[in-house]
Amino acid sequence: MSGNWLDAVVLARRALTGRIAEFCIGRADGRPLPMAESGSHVELHFGGGERHLVRHYSIVGPLTLAGDPEPFWRIAVQREDRGRGSAFIHASFRPGTALRVSPQINAFRLSRHRANTLLIAGGIGVTPMVAMARSLRRRNMEFSMLYAGQDRSAMAYVDELESLCGDRLTLHETKRDGIPGLVRLLSDQPAETVAHVCGPSALIEALRDAAASLGWRKERVRFEVFNAAHRPDDSDFEVRLPTGRRIRVGAGTTILEALELAGVDTLSSCRRGECGLCITDVANCDGELDQRDRYFSTEERRAGRQIAICCSRISGRALVLNI
Ligand code: FES
Repeated sequence: MSGNWLDAVVLARRALTGRIAEFCIGRADGRPLPMAESGSHVELHFGGGERHLVRHYSIVGPLTLAGDPEPFWRIAVQREDRGRGSAFIHASFRPGTALRVSPQINAFRLSRHRANTLLIAGGIGVTPMVAMARSLRRRNMEFSMLYAGQDRSAMAYVDELESLCGDRLTLHETKRDGIPGLVRLLSDQPAETVAHVCGPSALIEALRDAAASLGWRKERVRFEVFNAAHRPDDSDFEVRLPTGRRIRVGAGTTILEALELAGVDTLSSCRRGECGLCITDVANCDGELDQRDRYFSTEERRAGRQIAICCSRISGRALVLNI
């Protein structure tokens, strides 16, 4: 995305739950931002200097069925106690805070030509689902939605989804209802339903397993992973290039972002370990590769000859890339 960033500003902030806050982000020059497609997300650049951080957030979009486009982008951020990006945003984003944003990126397209759509959201993974539910409703298409979270008070946008979806929405509070029965849920769907799921990796993996056990074709489960690139216990390491250059990859950033900041030519698209465009040959690593992509097969991952630099890291101190 380098080169296309826009100067932006936080226009408004409100609390959605104890840990989730919503931010409306507009252009710094006051011109309207384009209406986001459902399923799209945006890269936020903020912090500056040594604390330069980049994070991806889904664009939630308008919260009602009314047709007026929003001239800003609405995102919702869950504060992770040890998450550098979300903690920084919660602590410092106020109306007037300056940041930079990428154009919208859509790697999680809503399949609009299917007989039936099933939306599944886990926790903060609800954010792209609000826009999808609204889009399906506005087109009068068949869909249903399962929204799982600890309990209602910890779940964002419940009221809005109830009014957007009516009885198509099932709220699943895990404190009360336990783990959702995904095989049962998929078994109950009309033939050729396509599922879109967003949430923690465990939910996505469980859904993919359930679909595979029922013989669903892989394309019938579309998913988006949250925060594949960042974990609270990440640590710094160094990337070395054939030219001899050494580039520090801080715990709050990715190899791709560190290389971009250092002016190294890179290729990328999804920036979340799904498309394979950023795959880079590994010449050496003094620890283990920590592969966080969803692109490689199990054998390729085990071979460890390449790495998805947009999201994967290492457990050691130095990684030598053939770039
Ligand atoms: S940019 Fe898509 S896998 Fe890395």
